[in-house]
Amino acid sequence: MNKILILFICVLSCFINSSQSLTLPQLTAQINGKVISQSSPDFNNARFGYNYRYNRVPQIIVQPLDTASVVLALEYAQTNNLLVSVKSGGHSAIAEGVQDLRVVIDVSQMKQISYDPVSNIITTQSGNKWVEVYNYTINQHQVATPGGSCPSVSVGGLTLGGGANDLSTVHGLATDNVVELEVVLANRSVVIANEQTNVDLFWALRGGGHGGFGIVTLFKFRAHPVLPTYYSAWITYAWADFEDVLTYVNKFSETMPNTVNLYFTAWRSSNATNPSVALSCFFNGPSHLGESHCGSFRNFSGTKKNTYITPVSYSVSNISYYDTVKTGTDPKARSSYTSGSFLTSIDKKVVKNIKTQLEKSPVTPYTFNTARLNLYWQGGQMLNQARDYNAYVHRTYPWNAVWLVSYAGGQFEETYRKWIKQTYRKFESFSEGVYQNYPDENNLDNWAEAYYMENYPKLQVVKAAYDPNNYFKFAQSIGSPSFSS
Ligand SMILES: Cc1cc2nc3c(=O)[nH]c(=O)nc-3n(C[C@H](O)[C@H](O)[C@H](O)COP(=O)(O)OP(=O)(O)OC[C@H]3O[C@@H](n4cnc5c(N)ncnc54)[C@H](O)[C@@H]3O)c2cc1C
Ligand SMILES: *[C@@H]1O[C@H](CO)[C@@H](O)[C@H](O)[C@H]1NC(C)=O
Ligand SMILES: *[C@@H]1O[C@H](CO)[C@@H](O)[C@H](O)[C@H]1NC(C)=O
Ligand SMILES: *[C@@H]1O[C@H](CO)[C@@H](O)[C@H](O)[C@H]1NC(C)=O
Ligand SMILES: *[C@@H]1O[C@H](CO)[C@@H](O)[C@H](O)[C@H]1NC(C)=O
Ligand SMILES: *[C@@H]1O[C@H](CO)[C@@H](O)[C@H](O)[C@H]1NC(C)=O
Repeated sequence: MNKILILFICVLSCFINSSQSLTLPQLTAQINGKVISQSSPDFNNARFGYNYRYNRVPQIIVQPLDTASVVLALEYAQTNNLLVSVKSGGHSAIAEGVQDLRVVIDVSQMKQISYDPVSNIITTQSGNKWVEVYNYTINQHQVATPGGSCPSVSVGGLTLGGGANDLSTVHGLATDNVVELEVVLANRSVVIANEQTNVDLFWALRGGGHGGFGIVTLFKFRAHPVLPTYYSAWITYAWADFEDVLTYVNKFSETMPNTVNLYFTAWRSSNATNPSVALSCFFNGPSHLGESHCGSFRNFSGTKKNTYITPVSYSVSNISYYDTVKTGTDPKARSSYTSGSFLTSIDKKVVKNIKTQLEKSPVTPYTFNTARLNLYWQGGQMLNQARDYNAYVHRTYPWNAVWLVSYAGGQFEETYRKWIKQTYRKFESFSEGVYQNYPDENNLDNWAEAYYMENYPKLQVVKAAYDPNNYFKFAQSIGSPSFSS
């Protein structure tokens, strides 16, 4: 460890607690929540997250149930000269929430939630998964805020990095709907951040919140009414039609209304001869109008004259928004590499390159190994903010391209890592910016520029003001010109 850092921590702990350190028995006795030591049967389960490629062993895992217990966990760490990492749903692609030898402050059990119909505000602690948020807000109050589209992704990490799902084309990012946050700072004071109080911190946490400003314990979101059911189509095409399909999808996206959202995906399953291609078309309006918006995907003109493209399958669900999230895919115990970037255009060359790259993806004998491209539409209301509205800067290009390999066993790790790296390089010149909710430590030369672009200098200033000793320090936390690295 860096000597200056050690010095900082010593100085910090001496001046914060000049008397004595909080002992483990004291922490265990005083906390409202759980302390999971290395010898606890729960330890393994609690230290692994979404990406099993990371096999980290923290000093201890603390699962507080309230804000005072988060402060206590932080006091335990600081007065024992330990660093912390913060975990909510554990879906970080680079497992930032769990670090070797640290105190993991795991807020995943902080699940209080309420809705106030008068102010139209949803208030939730950081630990709820989105399926739990929607189970409460949609099933009990017919309201929602944009969040995640998979059941196990959590409020904490998703919101602090942006956060998009099918509701976002109309209502914006999760983070754009935040009206207030409660935050535990490095000096253990608990503060509110909103448009009136700690305004800069509020700006920074919305998009830059993984960066080490503090531990967010409470989120308040603007709520929006939801309909009982929505039109959602899942459409598959023949691999031979790949170029025609993606070309049409992109053309369609240029004129579609904000009420339509698209998700395009193409993948190779283990040793399949050809990759597969599919599209989701979601209509955020009365479900009987969905067909008039998405129906053209049933038969459209190909790029060659007098050719028509029709799907292999076109299945429509008339489904509650809660059910779309509940049935979302939720991979378990898999290793992965993720590499994303916003495409600046989807022209003929890019379309061809994507096809070739998927055809070159590794072939392995395990059925569940996949190499995949996800194209998430992040247009509509997600782009209708200035690039400096909050720390989330990606307001220019709507297609977020996320390349993902997911595999079991270490045998093919190097093969997949190489393919992802090659893929990243191939699309670098057609890309601008990387969505910070798909962090990448394998390919990016300058992650700060990729995630935050021109907003980074302001983030550094805010970081220096709220965490002057750089206590919340991770591989990809916000630095400051005055911190040594
Ligand atoms: C299966 C899957 C589905 C996904 N679906 C979507 C989607 O639909 N839309 C979308 O936009 N993104 C999606 N993502 C990406 C997702 O937004 C990020 O992985 C997100 O950071 C996960 O948040 P988490 O709380 O689950 O993970 P964590 O790993 O717990 O947290 C992620 C990061 O946030 C920090 N953090 C977490 N909680 C706090 C807190 N309370 N205070 C301060 N820092 C905190 C952690 O330290 C870490 O750096 C998905 C990812 C996966 C793996
Ligand atoms: C949804 O809420 C109901 C009622 O509170 C509860 O019984 C159920 O377990 C919840 N389901 C999920 C997936 O959270
Ligand atoms: C969708 O389902 C709802 C509730 O079951 C029903 O009222 C509605 O008519 C259905 N709409 C379509 C287009 O099938
Ligand atoms: C697709 O549309 C074209 C032009 O309208 C039509 O000629 C063709 O028969 C349609 N194909 C199918 C399978 O419906
Ligand atoms: C894929 O692998 C399985 C299991 O090893 C094998 O049975 C199958 O024939 C393979 N398929 C192809 C297309 O190679
Ligand atoms: C804690 O840090 C904040 C932000 O730097 C500062 O405003 C506040 O005065 C500090 N509180 C204490 C008790 O030192």
